Amino acid sequence: MTDKVLIAGCGDVGNALAARLIAEGCEVWGVRRRVEALREEVRPWRIDLTEPRGFGRPPAAFDYLFYAASADRRDEDHYRSIYVDGLRDLLTALRKAACPLRRVFFTSSTAVYGQSAGEWVDETSATEPQRFNGRVLLDAEAIVREAPEVGINVRLSGIYGSGRTRLVRKVWSGEAIATRAWTNRIHVEDCAGALHHLMRVEEPEGLYLASDDEPATTAEVVTWLSGELGVPAPPKPSPKDQAERLNKRCRTSRLRDTGYRFELPTFREGYRPIVREFLSALG
Ligand SMILES: NC(=O)c1ccc[n+]([C@@H]2O[C@H](COP(=O)([O-])OP(=O)(O)OC[C@H]3O[C@@H](n4cnc5c(N)ncnc54)[C@H](OP(=O)(O)O)[C@@H]3O)[C@@H](O)[C@H]2O)c1
Repeated sequence: MTDKVLIAGCGDVGNALAARLIAEGCEVWGVRRRVEALREEVRPWRIDLTEPRGFGRPPAAFDYLFYAASADRRDEDHYRSIYVDGLRDLLTALRKAACPLRRVFFTSSTAVYGQSAGEWVDETSATEPQRFNGRVLLDAEAIVREAPEVGINVRLSGIYGSGRTRLVRKVWSGEAIATRAWTNRIHVEDCAGALHHLMRVEEPEGLYLASDDEPATTAEVVTWLSGELGVPAPPKPSPKDQAERLNKRCRTSRLRDTGYRFELPTFREGYRPIVREFLSALG
């Protein structure tokens, strides 16, 4: 039987995941407000996840849910309404409609970790976020962890990919600073690849960290980018530059032990085509 998959918050990661699922023969529905931005062949379900009264009846009996919506803005009430209330309300609606949900995924974030001294973190590490975003995501994770369905939280690190050129622009314009803080990233295609892989893993764990194979310092990444772009290397921080708040290293052996191999294992493979895209758009 064809798997029916719902991707709620079907943006960059959702659309990339949908492509893989469709290629495999799944029927895929995507929730977002601007359904015209869904990839072709994704069936639209236009609802606002923060307005449960408008949900109506789900358009199919879904077997899998991926909840990958993101907040529009950085304020706590809004974060709660999209990550916690939206997730809970959608699950309630799907259960009411007797969807035979086999697995429920939530795309959480490494923002749940408060570590900031370059420590390694994994699924067993303490989660004591200093900011509200990490706390809200932990509350959303609890909904999935306690769900009667098989619930899987996947903590993604900083997502980058085609069209996401913020860091490249900063290096190009000379605004980047070569700080020594550790950073972690994952390409959109690997977010989709890892989620797709976990959908098929037998007896999955309830929690995975997903980040590429090489945590790297900001200095390493921006210096390498400057070389690719052919611009001067970014300067070292001056004493008045604020210390970076984020500074940890993600260990992803649990995900790799399931057999997943990163398609873009380091920032170099991932950023090369993005730099090319950026330079060719400049003309
Ligand atoms: N950015 C990062 O570095 C990072 C790191 C870790 C985890 N994450 C998480 O990873 C997930 C996927 O990220 P992404 O890069 O694919 O995000 P994205 O491209 O921003 O996609 C998120 C989607 O959510 C939809 N959405 C937002 N609010 C909605 C609402 N009220 N009702 C219905 N749909 C709504 C948006 O579509 P419309 O605007 O058309 O509604 C958008 O398509 C998100 O859960 C994000 O929080 C991100």
